[in-house]
Amino acid sequence: MRYAWFRCSVFLLVAIWPVYWLYQAWIFALGPDPGKVLVDRMGLGALILLLITLALTPLQRMTSWAGWVFIRRQMGLWCFAWALLHLAAYLFFVLGLAWDQLGVELSQRPYIIVGALALLMLAALAVTSNRYSQRRLGKRWKGLHKLVYAVLGLGLLHFLWIVRADLKQWAAYALIGALLLLLRIPVIATRLPRFKKKSAYFQKKA
Ligand code: HEM
Repeated sequence: MRYAWFRCSVFLLVAIWPVYWLYQAWIFALGPDPGKVLVDRMGLGALILLLITLALTPLQRMTSWAGWVFIRRQMGLWCFAWALLHLAAYLFFVLGLAWDQLGVELSQRPYIIVGALALLMLAALAVTSNRYSQRRLGKRWKGLHKLVYAVLGLGLLHFLWIVRADLKQWAAYALIGALLLLLRIPVIATRLPRFKKKSAYFQKKA
């Protein structure tokens, strides 16, 4: 398997955090409201993983190192997994699995609907991220996977709705997101500085 060491290191690096946080909650190291801390960390983590996923193609273009694209699917799936953990933490720790409360929550906190929409789109991307779906959907696959930009927009809107007062942290993430989208515009993408010669993998593909 190509870049096996890199893929495995990334896998371990991303997988370890939720386990560590659950351990911290177990030993009462997350403060008086560990459930809320877990919800926030998983949500912010999902957004960061989404930004990292979007950064991989420009990174590959600039460094010509094929390893970046080899972890792209994994990072996208991790973003979905963390968003699912974020939802699970919310349902379990905040809602206490009181399903009758869900209707009240949805009417009082519309940002949850925005988050749910983003999660549904992430689910569509995750289930069609395999080669089989790529072959079956043909040209439509690329169109469908443009949903990732809508996920970013909804994720940022969901976040903005929550922070409202202190915009500094939100603005930093929004700025990074906007920059990553700019780097995907063809006229900009083709002018990106290249720091290294194309790797053997891309020379063979060309
Ligand atoms: C059904 C889906 C979702 C639900 C029910 C949900 C719910 C929540 C809740 C209850 C909070 C905490 C609000 C507070 O602090 O008062 C939150 C925070 C957050 N969520 Fe979600 N969310 C969902 C999906 C998502 C998705 C898909 C993303 C990212 C792509 C995301 C990113 C975030 C972020 C960045 C925060 C703020 C964390 C912080 O304050 O540090 N959420 N969400």
